[in-house]
Amino acid sequence: MGKTILVLTGSPREGGNSDQLAEAFIRGACGAGNSVLRYNAARKQIGPCIGCQSCAGGNGDCVAKDDYAELVDYLRRADAIAIFTPIYWLSWPAGLKAAIDRFYSFYCSETQTRVKESIMVVCGEAADLSFYDPMVKTYEMTADLMHWENKGHIIVPSVGEPGAVQQTPAIAGMEKIGTYF
Ligand SMILES: Cc1cc2nc3c(=O)[nH]c(=O)nc-3n(C[C@H](O)[C@H](O)[C@H](O)COP(=O)(O)O)c2cc1C
Repeated sequence: MGKTILVLTGSPREGGNSDQLAEAFIRGACGAGNSVLRYNAARKQIGPCIGCQSCAGGNGDCVAKDDYAELVDYLRRADAIAIFTPIYWLSWPAGLKAAIDRFYSFYCSETQTRVKESIMVVCGEAADLSFYDPMVKTYEMTADLMHWENKGHIIVPSVGEPGAVQQTPAIAGMEKIGTYF
């Protein structure tokens, strides 16, 4: 039986490199009988976590009423999460960072999502892989804190212009990785 995969994307540049990687992954995943819930954090209205602690002792819900509620619903329905994002200033783009900060609603309430496993795919202009180290570490520790089995991360370096990713083997690779779920 297929899995439900939450594809969480982070780029504000619609149809750019990370979106194209996500689409290839989705083709592979759906072709293998999985279903996908897609959430583009950059296109949602998600305010910052204000540290109000109202989520303590709760069930993972956040009291702030915005588009994070939809992500909470997806996190409760998905078996796996696949994050596709560009690197922005050594980290997640702001919209995705806001969404990930809000995962605190689960952490603080010691509630688990349904998600059991995760991957992260990050693309960027830098060729030097050490520039991606802070992001990889953040992802790895996020997976750990969320009790997700980290199935790994993929760095797609040296892609700047939108569509540059099409000249790399990563698109074919993503389609294949989609079938592994
Ligand atoms: C605000 C901003 C910050 C960026 N910071 C980095 C960075 O720290 N390292 C890097 O390699 N590329 C950086 N880039 C380049 C993007 O990661 C790169 O163009 C990527 O392919 C964009 O993916 P997208 O088409 O999915 O938006 C930055 C781009 C922008 C607009």
